[in-house]
Amino acid sequence: MAWPNEFNEDLSQFLAQKKSASPALTDAIAYATRSPGKRLRPLFAQESGALFGLNPTATSLFSIAIELVHLFSLIHDDLPALDNDDFRRGLPTLHKEFNEGIALLAGDELLNFAHETFLMISEHVSPSAFLEAFRYFTDAIGSNGMIGGQTLEMELTQNNDPLLLETLLKIQSLKTGALFRASIVIPALLSGIQKEDSKIRELTEFAEAFGFAFQIADDLEDEAQDEKTSRKNILSHLGRESAIQLALNRLSGASFSKHFSATQRLTALLQSKA
Ligand code: IPE
Ligand code: IPE
Ligand code: MG
Ligand code: MG
Repeated sequence: MAWPNEFNEDLSQFLAQKKSASPALTDAIAYATRSPGKRLRPLFAQESGALFGLNPTATSLFSIAIELVHLFSLIHDDLPALDNDDFRRGLPTLHKEFNEGIALLAGDELLNFAHETFLMISEHVSPSAFLEAFRYFTDAIGSNGMIGGQTLEMELTQNNDPLLLETLLKIQSLKTGALFRASIVIPALLSGIQKEDSKIRELTEFAEAFGFAFQIADDLEDEAQDEKTSRKNILSHLGRESAIQLALNRLSGASFSKHFSATQRLTALLQSKA
């Protein structure tokens, strides 16, 4: 079965075993998980798992866990209290299709499911590798990771402070970079690689290069919109040409780049905009 159908099948089988508090919550979770995402983080997880010889069950459980975290983050990100968006993945956002309360709770439930799924990995790897990976997982989600980045961005938007390049880079690295790092590094940790091992540093370097390039691609997509509102982003700070070149150089300079298929697609996209 081709990607991402294979993953989508695993995800729906996993969710079929879960019982939510009400039919509305079950429907909302089904709506969120069936929407057509690119499934980039689970793809990274699968490729990293294969690279480090992680057992397929652990790889598959982790792929589900990381996408569930991503889904939770998107649902909450779209709520009126944060970005107030009406559409996601070409469909009405969860709070538009259902209501804000259900969207909030569906996000909570997905984060809880993610931890439950991650716990199941403990039966398939060594206890010390599991603990190390679990710590990395919670760190990537929390204030040192995605939630931290979302918080910094929210406060910055509310204060109307000038958007310094350094701050924007930090927000990107936390808000989007942390879950990319987790999807790439955690399979290696689960397979027993020590966190001090140079491979972890090199994987992190690749994940950061990917996150940065992903942000530049995203900024390029929003270029017309941001010009209209004269909003500063990493792309406008660095200048179009330098930003694209820097993103391409970082991607090609990272030793693990060639092992992850999303690199080629992102490289081609950036080259087409250069
Ligand atoms: C979008 O991520 C949200 C960010 C973290 C910037 P993706 O581009 O991976 O979104 P989906 O999962 O394919 O919808
Ligand atoms: C969403 O970031 C990233 C997270 C939820 C962590 P953005 O708000 O920048 O991305 P979109 O435009 O909603 O996908
Ligand atoms: Mg946002
Ligand atoms: Mg948003």
